[in-house]
Amino acid sequence: MKTLPLSAVEIKGDFPIFARSMRNEKPLIYLDSGATSQKPRSVIDAQSHFYEHINAAVHRGAHLLAEEADAAYEGAREIVANFIGAQANEIVFTKSATEGLNAIAYSFGSAEKGSRLSLGRGDSIVVTEMEHHANLIPWQQLARRTGATLKWIPITSEGRLDYSTLEEIVDSSTKILAFTHQSNVLGTINDVATLVAAAKSVGAVTVLDACQSVPHFPIDVKALGVDLLTFSGHKALGPTGIGVLWGTSSILEEMEPFLYGGSMIESVTMTQATWAPAPRKFEAGVPNMAGAVGLGAALQYLSDIGMENVHSWEKSLTDYALSEFAKLSGVSVIGPLTSENRGAVISFTVDGIHPHDVGQVLDQHGIAVRTGHHCAWPLMKKFGITGTTRASFYLYNTISDVDSLIAAVKSAQEYFKV
Ligand code: ALA
Repeated sequence: MKTLPLSAVEIKGDFPIFARSMRNEKPLIYLDSGATSQKPRSVIDAQSHFYEHINAAVHRGAHLLAEEADAAYEGAREIVANFIGAQANEIVFTKSATEGLNAIAYSFGSAEKGSRLSLGRGDSIVVTEMEHHANLIPWQQLARRTGATLKWIPITSEGRLDYSTLEEIVDSSTKILAFTHQSNVLGTINDVATLVAAAKSVGAVTVLDACQSVPHFPIDVKALGVDLLTFSGHKALGPTGIGVLWGTSSILEEMEPFLYGGSMIESVTMTQATWAPAPRKFEAGVPNMAGAVGLGAALQYLSDIGMENVHSWEKSLTDYALSEFAKLSGVSVIGPLTSENRGAVISFTVDGIHPHDVGQVLDQHGIAVRTGHHCAWPLMKKFGITGTTRASFYLYNTISDVDSLIAAVKSAQEYFKV
């Protein structure tokens, strides 16, 4: 078993992509893990192994390959469940976290009138001002379809939720409180316990967007106390095209399916059908089996390192990066300025230089970052900016990556002479 901090050579050595060079023959300094993480060899091999040796449609076949595919797919479900402290039958494989959030919103929208999950005029859905579009637009649409009202918890200038507004916003009309665990822009880690307590006090369902948290620190769904949670595989060292929707057994039982079709039924006649128990009723069609297996390998890799180790390493990187950013004049970090309740995502603006231009200069140094509004347009408006440059760190980043970033930001300032 490996532990962090690892030497750059050792950890990057597990990720084939770091063997390639970037523009100007520079080594790759990957600071865009908030968008998608890189993949270790074990994940790439697990997917190839599935296609080379096992490939068959799960839950349908009577042959050896189908039996082995079932075992691999359901084995991956067990790994995911263990990773977040859940039961395997509470894990639904989706194509992405976005699909998971849409599935929840769609399902609530088709709940039988009068049932606990149905919404209508007079009901409200509460989100926060720091949501990614994936955890905002599905709720806007659900409000539009049902007549419910969308409300949001504002943020402070430091980029924290303004908890003083909670009592006023979460009230007896609230049916759903959907919020991000960690902002993909600010790095802010929200106080789940306080939000869950507010929701529970009015009987609202809680939905947690855990895209930026599950890959980076230990998660136990029971301790969190939320009803539903989603995350994507590709941000957690896994493949693209695979995501997870977790829900308590009781809410999954109450929820309507999102997709209808093969393998999600209990019985079918020409005029009606009944559903298999969760998670099957949410997994219509032949699923992304290789993706699930790859995600299982990814979470196994993270478990072998230990999520506490991943978290503390990222905290060291964040502390160091924030202290180095503080020394730069003309550069502002958007979000909390200490690593307390904050993840390893640092968004910043450089006076007089557009974020895309900063990104292009960084690219000349082999540094990959994300620039723009980060799918959080309302948040940008709140800060009165059009976008930021965002560096997001993961377990394969090093202190020297931070030094390279800071040097490259200085060179952008020099280049544009600001
Ligand atoms: N949601 C991803 C990000 O924040 C794509 O970059």
